[in-house]
Amino acid sequence: MLDYVNDKIQDETRQGEAYAPFAGDPTVYKKRFYIESYGCQMNFADSEIVASILHKEGFGATRNVEEADLIFINTCSIREKAEQTVRKRLTEFRKLKEQKKGMLVGVLGCMAERLKAKFLEEEKLVDMVVGPDAYRTLPGLVEEAEGGQKAVNVLLSREETYADISPVRLDSNGITAFVSIMRGCNNMCSFCVVPFTRGRERSRDAESIISECRDLFEKGYKEVTLLGQNVDSYYFIDEQNDEAVTFARLLERVALISPLLRVRFSTSHPKDITDEVLFTMAKYENICKYIHLPVQSGSTRILQLMNRTYTREWYKAKVDRIRQVMPDCGISSDIIAGFCTEEEADHHDTLSIMEYSRYDFSYMFFYSERPGTLAQRRYEDDIDEDVKKRRLQEIVAMQNRLSQESNRRDLGKKFIVLIEGDSKKNAAEWKGRNSQNKVIVFPKETYNVGKGDYVEVEVVSCTQATLLGKIVNK
Ligand code: 5AD
Ligand code: SF4
Repeated sequence: MLDYVNDKIQDETRQGEAYAPFAGDPTVYKKRFYIESYGCQMNFADSEIVASILHKEGFGATRNVEEADLIFINTCSIREKAEQTVRKRLTEFRKLKEQKKGMLVGVLGCMAERLKAKFLEEEKLVDMVVGPDAYRTLPGLVEEAEGGQKAVNVLLSREETYADISPVRLDSNGITAFVSIMRGCNNMCSFCVVPFTRGRERSRDAESIISECRDLFEKGYKEVTLLGQNVDSYYFIDEQNDEAVTFARLLERVALISPLLRVRFSTSHPKDITDEVLFTMAKYENICKYIHLPVQSGSTRILQLMNRTYTREWYKAKVDRIRQVMPDCGISSDIIAGFCTEEEADHHDTLSIMEYSRYDFSYMFFYSERPGTLAQRRYEDDIDEDVKKRRLQEIVAMQNRLSQESNRRDLGKKFIVLIEGDSKKNAAEWKGRNSQNKVIVFPKETYNVGKGDYVEVEVVSCTQATLLGKIVNK
């Protein structure tokens, strides 16, 4: 149960996902690569950039690890468990390598910087170690590794955004896509390793974002999710149009591509999401009414230790404001149980802020100390594991209740749903999402609609995780 919760990092169904090659691709490749991704959506988007860079160099993707000449694992460092999973996979790959001469293994992403020496020298697990800002150098590094050298580049950059690289969408439903709009993070939340693994925050050229989104729409995509660790601090000086592009303005420009293109975004830091963003969301029907607004803790004292820079009251006022501007807006959260010095009273503050905010769902974790973070340097990880887990369980129980209540409130309501494909369980049913990001499953019946179409669905029943509906209008 707890494992399930912890595995739910960003999308538990995608952890360890490998990319599929293009269907019917006639190209003859000099080598095949296999890439497996862990962690957040940013990492999955990065794997698509890596695929694009390798592709240009004449490498083709394969989903079959045994067929691969190059194996990449795009790693996550956010919690200890994520790192353990990667280590386990690397030992499995080492066995494969012993059987296939010339096969090379590379570690990409957030674990690269921290563990480069260990992976390469001490454990001799891998041939290449490449940090998140060094993917352009991959082809050269592959060559070095082929020549028998240990190939490493973990330099972080202040500029790299891969703006000009158009990602290869290898494992896509053809309807929804992720678009990176910035990289890194400047926030220094005390528990978080991201500022160290992904570096300083930088925003990607606005024009390149808009043209990538337009291109996706022209290829039949109907939804883009703009990605960044902290999207609300997006800021780009567009010299061409002599304009300072804020996140609100970027959202608007993407929304204007077509009313048929839905726009989502993630993640918002509560301190940065502005009224301007909320009003822009309210103004455009195709900007989805859904905000991922991680609270982390409901206790002002703990929030201060976490360096989140807001108080409990301030967060509650932000939730009020969102509901005032968009009464139908979905809100979700990230929550950490058992941060350093957390007492029962702090934990109860977390439970009560969850109830106050009426989250539709949350990603819930117990605190895992990460090397090099402010918290690791300043505070003792002093909450017993069984206390952390018990508190986490109470948080999960609270969220289950809130999700159930939120779904019940939707009974009888009608929503515009974008069809993403067949439901997993039943090919006679469609699966899609409403603007609030809730999954809705409904019978296909005899309607002449398909993947990528919008339909109006009435909610007739629900489980804790899913709404069940019926098409009322196509
Ligand atoms: N321990 C537990 N959870 C963490 N997160 C980030 N760092 C840690 C950590 N050291 C969680 C936060 C963040 C989400 C992506 O992961 O809730 O919002
Ligand atoms: Fe980590 Fe905080 Fe930045 Fe999110 S906002 S990536 S939690 S430092």
